[in-house]
Amino acid sequence: MPLLGVNIDHIATLRQARREFDPDPVKAALVCQDAGADSIVAHLREDRRHINDDDVKRLRRALRIRFNLEMSINPGIVAVACRLKPDQVTLVPERREELTTEGGLDVKKGFNKLKACCRKLADKGIDISLFIAPDKVQIEKTKDLGVPIVEFHTGSYAQARTAFSRQQELKRLMGMAAYATKLGLTVNAGHGLKYHNTLPVALIRGMNELNIGHSIISRAAFVGLKQAVREMITIIKARS
Ligand code: PXP
Repeated sequence: MPLLGVNIDHIATLRQARREFDPDPVKAALVCQDAGADSIVAHLREDRRHINDDDVKRLRRALRIRFNLEMSINPGIVAVACRLKPDQVTLVPERREELTTEGGLDVKKGFNKLKACCRKLADKGIDISLFIAPDKVQIEKTKDLGVPIVEFHTGSYAQARTAFSRQQELKRLMGMAAYATKLGLTVNAGHGLKYHNTLPVALIRGMNELNIGHSIISRAAFVGLKQAVREMITIIKARS
């Protein structure tokens, strides 16, 4: 059964709409923890548009479950991570203009920069994951880097417009999960996963953890955060 990591960025997005104190992402993370989430994900963006430095410090102190810090390889952010020592870091590409993380890392192109960054993080004892497309070359380059975890970007699957293309994307995720597992990598996935499209991804053989944010926080507006997390856990852990 895959684990569930809840991304709480959008709690901070709501706070930043007024630049005040409510809602507090740390309080939200503790509710997710109580509801049975296995980890908390927060993206410290270079522009601090939602999660800020104080949030990640407080999350580090408050959480009993794993804290997965999502971030770019920007040297300033890497320095924050090295001081903070979260349980895990997930490296993602980051563009200022984007609304959300639009694609996976190009591990082949960025190999040397990623290598230097991963060495710094690994020296601090932080587990490292790379957010990549479900693609053979990206998987192989991740393996070459010595990074033990991949997170597959599920955006193409989630945004597929027809049942046929969705099925094709699912097959691709399944094939690449099998390939990465064969190479000894741990496989996670996330992006665009909703209550209606998560089960097939949760059923992929070897899937270790799904990281889900927007759909859970959106549902929380209607049913409360605890209930929203529990409903997603029921879907993910419903496999036979
Ligand atoms: N995993 C990664 C690496 C992400 O960048 C995001 C989006 O912040 C997610 C998972 C969660 O995506 P969503 O908010 O669409 O569930």
